[in-house]
Amino acid sequence: MRTYRPGQIKPSEITNQDIWLKRRQLIKAGMAAGAGLLLGGASGLAAAVYAGPGKNQKIALLKESDYGAGMEPTRYKSITTYNNFYELGYGKRAPAENADALKTRPWSVKVSGECARPGVMDIEDIMKLDQEERIYRFRCVEAWSMVVPWVGIPLGSFLKRFEPGSKAKYVEFETLYDPERMPGQRREVIDWPYREGLRIDEAMHPLALLATGLYGEVLPGQNGAPLRLVVPWKYGFKSIKSIVSIRFTEEQPINTWNAIAGDEYGFFANVNPKVPHPRWSQRRHRVLGRGIFGSKEDTLLFNGYAEDVASLYSGMDLRKNF
Ligand code: MTE
Repeated sequence: MRTYRPGQIKPSEITNQDIWLKRRQLIKAGMAAGAGLLLGGASGLAAAVYAGPGKNQKIALLKESDYGAGMEPTRYKSITTYNNFYELGYGKRAPAENADALKTRPWSVKVSGECARPGVMDIEDIMKLDQEERIYRFRCVEAWSMVVPWVGIPLGSFLKRFEPGSKAKYVEFETLYDPERMPGQRREVIDWPYREGLRIDEAMHPLALLATGLYGEVLPGQNGAPLRLVVPWKYGFKSIKSIVSIRFTEEQPINTWNAIAGDEYGFFANVNPKVPHPRWSQRRHRVLGRGIFGSKEDTLLFNGYAEDVASLYSGMDLRKNF
């Protein structure tokens, strides 16, 4: 088992190569234009637009990605007070109320299974990967939707560091199991720890994100601190929070909601207005932050990211593989 240290991390490994190259060019241009003014201006702009309320530690050097350009972010307060996180309680407000229980230090993530370089990475080192980071504005959908300016590491570039092999067909994620830090686990409501899984090509897709922050600050506990998954074309329950283990597997892993109610929650969980949940339609959803009842909107196939992700599912019957 290898322990990764920041010294081993090259910026070129973290972001995809051409984004990294563009960034190097930007830095060069900035220097030529005078003392990095251009770069400072760009990150300053993003930080101003997405400044959080100053409650949590700031994440420096933010840069926007193209994903979600033109979307209006949901208010910070709405994003952080209407949550599902059973480990921190069972109502929508409970996770925010109980978030102090979740101590996020010490914290490390173990990466294991079908890969050439399994290892353990400390959260401080994972946070350093953010140095080249960007803001992603993603729309998230459950029965409600919100647009979240996430900060994070593309999941694929993180996973590639561990060199998954040909038997790595899936990726399994697990949340911390610690009833001290996660009071909701004192009740046997689900078979803890919470688990989630993706097919390897889904995990490698540039839209899949390991989020470490939102609104330019580190994640608050209720949103899955210190590290959670964001898969913007899937329903929210795929976005596992407070991850401590990532494992490459040959077999399709168990995911918590599928294990609890397999007829209601499939492994894929792709946003699809044409495939109703057995107990409700998925054609429309409420937009968070638009009043108590919120105005409803039509739900889009793959949550509006069809152009980017539909090819992952070509030839699959999405009614069966829901
Ligand atoms: N992850 C863990 N560990 N425990 C949970 O209860 N709930 C899921 C998902 N990730 C959950 C979890 C569900 S049902 C949803 S809708 C999203 O988190 C909500 O994420 P948000 O609170 O940031 O909107």
